[in-house]
Amino acid sequence: IRDDPVAVGDYVANYIAKRINDFAPTASKPFVLGLPTGSSPIPTYKALINKVKEGSLSFKHVITFNMDEYVGIPRDHPESYHTFMFREFFSHTDIPPSQVNLLDGNAEDLVAECNAYESRIKQCGGIELFLGGIGEDGHIAFNEPGSSLASRTRIKTLAYDTILANARFFNNNIAAVPRMALTVGVATVLEAREVVVVVTGQRKSLALSKAIEDGVNHLWTLSALQLHPWALIVVDEDATAEL
Ligand code: GLP
Repeated sequence: IRDDPVAVGDYVANYIAKRINDFAPTASKPFVLGLPTGSSPIPTYKALINKVKEGSLSFKHVITFNMDEYVGIPRDHPESYHTFMFREFFSHTDIPPSQVNLLDGNAEDLVAECNAYESRIKQCGGIELFLGGIGEDGHIAFNEPGSSLASRTRIKTLAYDTILANARFFNNNIAAVPRMALTVGVATVLEAREVVVVVTGQRKSLALSKAIEDGVNHLWTLSALQLHPWALIVVDEDATAEL
């Protein structure tokens, strides 16, 4: 528990930087990092960018896999996760764009796209550290309430609560929010060797308490982390309101 979102971001960035630096990635032994979108990871991204600028961290030998992407908006839409990731993070680091992996929500065959993504993760040796955030309904990536805890990368219809929550990124126009997304599954996240989740703000407090104080439950998919041998949830004071 840290005081506020900036302190959470600093903690998580220090943590990830140490993991990458201790791993000492090279071209033949890259560090495979899973990444989220949303407002919660932005302070972490800012702190990681500062480390790259200072020269204490490099993404030259890091391969990234993003958790999810909307279906039905163009890749260059300002709110696509592709655009978000380059705007908020990748463009400010030294990562070669060829090492960035994002699901393509405009692929002709979405099922094939999801299966190919799982294969690519495996080909890279699996994800070393998956960084995540959660939705107010406790979803991790876009694994909405009711998702199987054994789920893999697939197409997911968004819950109405998620559409409402994400309308703020679409000029508060609910009709403009995509109805579907591609997302890694709960099992895909659990397979990462380490999972780090950022939860900030009072509006996430119910989900946090359900996920860590209740049992493992597919209605609050973050709770699946209880099954992971090496998971860390970093939260601010506001997020602890229901604990
Ligand atoms: C979306 C993303 C999630 C993210 C969530 C929370 O639903 N698919 O991966 O965790 O938003 O967003 P925020 O951090 O802005 O609350």
